[in-house]
Amino acid sequence: MTIKRVGIVGSGTMGSGIAEVACKNGYEVVLRSRSQQGADKMITGLEKSLGKQVDKGRLAEAERDAALALVRGVSDLEELTECDLVVESVVEDLAVKKELFATLDRICAPHAILATNTSTLPVVDMAVATSRPGQVVGIHFFNPAPMMALVEVVRAITSTDETVEAALAFARSCGKDPIEVRDVAGFVVNALLFPYLNSAVRLLERGVASQEDIDAAMKAGANMPMGPFALIDLVGIDVTVSILDALHAENPDPFLQPAQHLRRMLSAGRLGREMGPPNGTNRCEHREWVACRPATSPG
Ligand SMILES: NC(=O)c1ccc[n+]([C@@H]2O[C@H](COP(=O)([O-])OP(=O)(O)OC[C@H]3O[C@@H](n4cnc5c(N)ncnc54)[C@H](O)[C@@H]3O)[C@@H](O)[C@H]2O)c1
Repeated sequence: MTIKRVGIVGSGTMGSGIAEVACKNGYEVVLRSRSQQGADKMITGLEKSLGKQVDKGRLAEAERDAALALVRGVSDLEELTECDLVVESVVEDLAVKKELFATLDRICAPHAILATNTSTLPVVDMAVATSRPGQVVGIHFFNPAPMMALVEVVRAITSTDETVEAALAFARSCGKDPIEVRDVAGFVVNALLFPYLNSAVRLLERGVASQEDIDAAMKAGANMPMGPFALIDLVGIDVTVSILDALHAENPDPFLQPAQHLRRMLSAGRLGREMGPPNGTNRCEHREWVACRPATSPG
């Protein structure tokens, strides 16, 4: 099928990033936020982001203008009627997503593909909330969407081959390197990454090494661009805990249960720098990680 117009529902981090990717690659984009103010804010954010790329010489002014001309910010879901593909990227809450899929199914053209950017929720549950389960698929971008090359195309047991092929082709046309994955919690990347992050916190809890040394070890010894604690801080403690909870719900291996200290940080509202103001008052402070180490631990 030919995709020309893409609807994006959700005006957060991911919705904004996916909108940028789609309009820069020539798709007409209908950006839907729950309020017109939210939609306008997204357009302003997009203008800023593309403007910065022009300033840095990475994008020609004409390309920026062409991309922005393709985008429309709306608050009414009915505006998505003529989209060929709708990518949902609202809050990670299955009840909210299922209701949204049922509404999109009612509104969208019969040929339209409905996709979710969920990180952990079963795509099939959203598919069966519609009358077109064959045309529902996961298109999982990574953050920041304009920078990250990977897209996981999630084949629910209900997805047709045509839908999966169209999703893979869409991702490729956006300059991404998609892989096809089955509809299991965490898909590939999060299923491997979050148990690793959890293990790093457990090592700290056991007093094996200090937070700084674990970060330094994974950078210098495993060639990681950043250590696990820096990554948890970036991803956010709330997201880390909720992804581990989702992995554990599907596979009740105690290894997948969030480490105790992650829950404590969550209770303390230390969510990580992504959630905090620019000066990072919500950052997971060194002293808070230190607090989870046994008194006799190194570092
Ligand atoms: N942030 C990431 O690193 C990342 C990466 C890949 C996928 N995801 C997934 O993308 C989706 C969005 O994540 P995000 O990081 O952009 O979140 P975000 O918090 O930045 O944005 C969430 C959006 O959902 C909207 N929203 C909240 N409650 C709603 C409701 N009841 N009905 C409709 N809209 C509602 C908010 O207004 C906001 O626009 C989630 O499913 C998440 O799991 C996130």
